[in-house]
Amino acid sequence: MERKGEPHPPGGPVLGIESSCDETAAAILAPDGRILAERVLSQIADHAAFGGVVPEIAARAHLAALDAMVKDALGEAGLGFADLAAIAGTAGPGLIGGLLVGTGYAKGAAIAAGKPYLALNHLEAHALTARLPGLAPVQPGFPYLLLLLSGGHSQCVAVEGVGRYRLLGSTLDDAVGEAFDKSAKLLGLPYPGGPALEALAREGDAAAVALPRPLLHREGCDFSFSGLKTAVVQLVAAEPPGPLARARAADIAASFQAAVTDILGDRLVHALALCPDASAVIIAGGVAANSAIRARLAEVAAKASKPLIAPPLRLCTDNAVMVAWAAQERLRAGQVSGLDAPCKPRWPLDQLTP
Ligand code: KG4
Ligand code: ZN
Repeated sequence: MERKGEPHPPGGPVLGIESSCDETAAAILAPDGRILAERVLSQIADHAAFGGVVPEIAARAHLAALDAMVKDALGEAGLGFADLAAIAGTAGPGLIGGLLVGTGYAKGAAIAAGKPYLALNHLEAHALTARLPGLAPVQPGFPYLLLLLSGGHSQCVAVEGVGRYRLLGSTLDDAVGEAFDKSAKLLGLPYPGGPALEALAREGDAAAVALPRPLLHREGCDFSFSGLKTAVVQLVAAEPPGPLARARAADIAASFQAAVTDILGDRLVHALALCPDASAVIIAGGVAANSAIRARLAEVAAKASKPLIAPPLRLCTDNAVMVAWAAQERLRAGQVSGLDAPCKPRWPLDQLTP
């Protein structure tokens, strides 16, 4: 293991691999953040019939796709493994099968090419993406606030430096994307439900149904969505048997989305109070694609005179550019991992802080 904290000599391109959930991704990034090649393969079609991600199917699909994907990306970048400065894989948190496939590949390639290996935290990769040069008009300085809103995570983090993360709040039960997906399923929408629910909500009246807003105005910035989901379950159960009328489903979708929007806006107010010197608010994760939520968070950030940075969707959702960029940040700080670095299905971000 290289000594930590020593500046790394100007490096070269890094290969990043992401396989923690249902996207197989590989990307090659120059040290200055230029994307030399990026590939993402979504497994949504493989899992749609089951209404959610099936871990064993995900792991096999990563295994089937990864090698050709990496070679394809290297080809586009005009590079071989020998030209890389390091090889990085997402080591957690996530589904163990996929993590083993991605990090196993990264370690194998690192051994064969005699390159350093980096075991990266998926949440850290989301957190550092905002610093990718060119993404925001000005690269956000530390500390900044990250609101991670995905299918697997709802967290609010003060990003205080590379490897220094303060968890301000997280979900006590369901992740926000999970709440979207479950509610969408109840409304008869296909998986993944978030985008479909947003589209249906446009036809509905957000004031049609009264839904709870768990933890609203409560101290801190934890989230809770299971009570909201249960309310949707009860609403749908109280409807006459048979398929839900489209207008009614649209009203429920709009009311659900309004409740989530209120919750997230309120939680951001509290997060800003916990990190008043934040230079910016960053949103990431699939739910950050939701325009109503995005608009509300932008409004709250503007009131606090903070810029809101929402990376483009392909960099907001799971991808490998973020893994390769986090690896470049770690390399600059002189940090690499041992080949014995384990995969960690559970790996809270604040565990990285020394
Ligand atoms: O970040 P992501 O692509 O994958 C992980 O969970 O890691 O997030 C996917 C989640 C799903 O729950 C999906 O329903 C939700 O993001 N999502 C949305 C929208 N687009 C994706 N939720 C609400 N509105 C959207 N437009
Ligand atoms: Zn993610």
